[in-house]
Amino acid sequence: KTKAITVPDIVARKSGEKLVSLTAYTTPVAKLADRHCDIVLVGDSVGMVMHGLKSTLDVTLEMMIMHGQAVRRGMERALMVVDLPFGSYEESPQQAFRSAARVMAETGCAAVKLEGGTSMAETIRFLTDRGIPVMAHIGLTPQAVNLFGGYRVQGRGDQALRVLADAEAIAEAGAFSVVVEKVAEPLARTITERLSIPTIGIGASAACDGQVLVVDDVLGMFTDFQPKFVKRYAEQGADADAAMEAYAADVRGGRFPSAEHIFPDNGPRLAGSGS
Ligand code: KIV
Ligand code: NA
Repeated sequence: KTKAITVPDIVARKSGEKLVSLTAYTTPVAKLADRHCDIVLVGDSVGMVMHGLKSTLDVTLEMMIMHGQAVRRGMERALMVVDLPFGSYEESPQQAFRSAARVMAETGCAAVKLEGGTSMAETIRFLTDRGIPVMAHIGLTPQAVNLFGGYRVQGRGDQALRVLADAEAIAEAGAFSVVVEKVAEPLARTITERLSIPTIGIGASAACDGQVLVVDDVLGMFTDFQPKFVKRYAEQGADADAAMEAYAADVRGGRFPSAEHIFPDNGPRLAGSGS
């Protein structure tokens, strides 16, 4: 059995070989991601990707735990990180600890991720001091969509100093790595150069120490909307649509099931069957 990647292994990759990460929400996808990624993230994007929610704000701790358990069953090697959902950690370091401890105990993940910079530094320190590795998430933090008024690029112009301060605060507080979402390249580069922990970019340029994307975006499961920072490597949505169209046509046309799909019976002829 292969040796599992640990938190210190990830930290040691700073400025080294690029870190590869994808989200996963189910066992079969986790099995695939585990073979190709260093970090598998059970993101709260699960609410939008798998449950049809309009934002991540309605995602619950129970949803994260259920998907975390499913993902855990597919994991052997990559580091598994689970998002703390909106409302489960912001109130106090104590609340965050209770939520994170539950997520870790019930899913078997190696670390949790939470959104926020300077404002979450005290919480990150509290968790780290008590044995819970924390991945931070700065720049565009989707749980703050109502504050931002949308999913716009963060840290442009004067705002860059705020995001840079967030980066330094979470690193100082003990975060072992940080997701940097949707910021301009010079800012991502500066953050990556200043911090001694790995930066994982999403819409934050190749200057970061690694990259993360939502797996359904990479596989082309969504046909309607594609963020600029996504690269599609498959068209699974279109494939599935074509497959269902062909299945429906076969059933309606009497072409499915055919001889190879049915069970023959050499027993006594049933009354009324046949002519
Ligand atoms: O929820 C999520 O999928 C995330 C990643 C995209 C970083 O937070
Ligand atoms: Na998330």
